[in-house]
Amino acid sequence: MSTKASNGIKRVGLAPNLTSGFYGQDIISVRQFTRDNLDYIFGVADEMRAVVRRVGSTDLLKGHVLACVFYEPSTRTSSSFIAAMSRMGGSVIPINEVRYSSVTKGESLPDTIRTLESYADVIVLRHPEIGASEVAAKYARKPIINAGDGVGEHPTQALLDLYTIRTDLGKIDGLHVAMVGDLRYGRTVHSLARLLCLYDVRMTFVSPEILRLPLDVMNEVKDHNLPVRETYDVSDVMADADVLYVTRVQRERFADQAQYDEVKDCYVITPELMDKAKEQMVVMHPLPRVNEISYAIDDDPRAAYFRQMENGMYIRMALLAAVLGKA
Ligand code: NCD
Repeated sequence: MSTKASNGIKRVGLAPNLTSGFYGQDIISVRQFTRDNLDYIFGVADEMRAVVRRVGSTDLLKGHVLACVFYEPSTRTSSSFIAAMSRMGGSVIPINEVRYSSVTKGESLPDTIRTLESYADVIVLRHPEIGASEVAAKYARKPIINAGDGVGEHPTQALLDLYTIRTDLGKIDGLHVAMVGDLRYGRTVHSLARLLCLYDVRMTFVSPEILRLPLDVMNEVKDHNLPVRETYDVSDVMADADVLYVTRVQRERFADQAQYDEVKDCYVITPELMDKAKEQMVVMHPLPRVNEISYAIDDDPRAAYFRQMENGMYIRMALLAAVLGKA
């Protein structure tokens, strides 16, 4: 969907790139972003961080309403969007339990979206099906922000991931990023790998055979002529990675529980493994973690996952302000 101006009428195709700015746009996929867009959002996020640290809140989005619709569980994504809106003076319609909404009466996604956009100025949607946000965007006149569409994408997570890398390591170009765990079902990995294609990075994908990165994502990375490698063994990357991006095995996506049990504990990042890592590097995780990262490394300064989740709020403040034309 596209140039949804404030009257919301004009539509020229789905999820266009953001070269002409964010105002009124849907955020469906990381494929929409350019490096300039990212620099802009990261700059606004820096400002939001300064505002929150200095005074706690602003009234930039006073009078604006966000509908936060989650058809799948969430802690960080939903609460950081709610906090983001609240810290900018706006309000939120939180629909976390769709079983208490008319969805259980059989209401379709387009009808739910049409309903909410008559009350809200922007809609954040998490849904179990790939492409659900794109469908919602097709029906909505107001901006839709994809907060995870099944095993598809999670663009706002990739933005906060990249922002964390930039903030912690001071750059993105030239880095070696290793992604570890469930690369097949992990939508955060799909979005981050695609977004990193805009930079000059090396990527290594570390997973068991059955959880390898999907071919379409791998081909996109290869189309950008970036050096990529796949391995099963996490110790292969420990000494050389600048970013170790660890993910949870996505139990809920497995049709066969026995198969989940086979791979669920395939990687655990321990202090012994961290002994091999560079002094300046980061361990990241979109969270929630199950067993993949030992609690014993939480106090290691290289453990970035708690900083990462705080960054999520600043990035989402920046995005909301941008799509509402207030950044
Ligand atoms: C992730 C998600 O929902 O895809 N969580 C998040 O948004 N921070 C990762 C996960 O559930 O493993």
